[in-house]
Amino acid sequence: MASSDLLSRLDACAATIRQRAPNFTPRLGLILGSGLGAFADSLERAVVIPYSELPDFPRSSVHGHAGRLVLGYHQGTLPVVTMQGRVHFYEGYQPWQVGFPTRVLCRLGIKGLVVTNAAGGINTGFGVGDLMAITDHLNLSGYNPLVGPNDETLGPRFPDMSHAYDPAFLAALRTSAVQENVPLREGVYVSLSGPSYETPAEIRMLRTLGADAVGMSTVPEVIVAAHMGVKVAGISCITNLAAGLSKHKLSHDEVSETADRVKDVFSRLLTRFLSNLGQSV
Ligand code: HPA
Repeated sequence: MASSDLLSRLDACAATIRQRAPNFTPRLGLILGSGLGAFADSLERAVVIPYSELPDFPRSSVHGHAGRLVLGYHQGTLPVVTMQGRVHFYEGYQPWQVGFPTRVLCRLGIKGLVVTNAAGGINTGFGVGDLMAITDHLNLSGYNPLVGPNDETLGPRFPDMSHAYDPAFLAALRTSAVQENVPLREGVYVSLSGPSYETPAEIRMLRTLGADAVGMSTVPEVIVAAHMGVKVAGISCITNLAAGLSKHKLSHDEVSETADRVKDVFSRLLTRFLSNLGQSV
């Protein structure tokens, strides 16, 4: 697709959202992964828009992803836009489509983006239910959402990724975890295309390469945000031990069950983090 075409599609989608939520400029965006969508229910004066009502917005087919945008005020004051559910490359979408929702959030004017996901623990020190602040990532998905003509209005052809996960956001996450008495791991997230889970041999390889947690999402959103100059914080919920690290088979049910079990702790961390960021974003 021509880059001007992408820009007009983004702006058409952003205009639809502005019509539904007039005079609302979100300062932060949140992408809530598998089973972690409940946080959006705490927003005040919320406007809910199903993805199906947004032009060009891809829809998730994954169980546990609600597929709606929730715009509202966090603790009455901080305007945020949350995505309850996201799409993945393995669902058959083109790379640009996977990046599209994040780009729309950035066009709405967000200054920061919080990405969350369910992930398999590769680091043997991690346990099921742990939360991990993402310090960096490995893009082993085999694709990049920026492939195609580049529109300089959106960002540079070759965006820097040295600080893709903003150091100040990471520091705020650490502080928030201490304040909430939530143990917070840190590590590198590796993204694969999926949808099959990894083999034990792949997990051993990924550990050697420096990965602490593995998943099938998040990286395209972070690349798009970096391209558009939006700061990112990332949190993984370790929903299961990666392949070969536990006796039982991997299943999406386990992922959903763990995400559901930790959702209150996760919401507490997120709430404190947003409050700490407060007016500084
Ligand atoms: N592998 C890949 N993606 C995942 C996993 C996993 O073990 N758990 C949750 N998402």
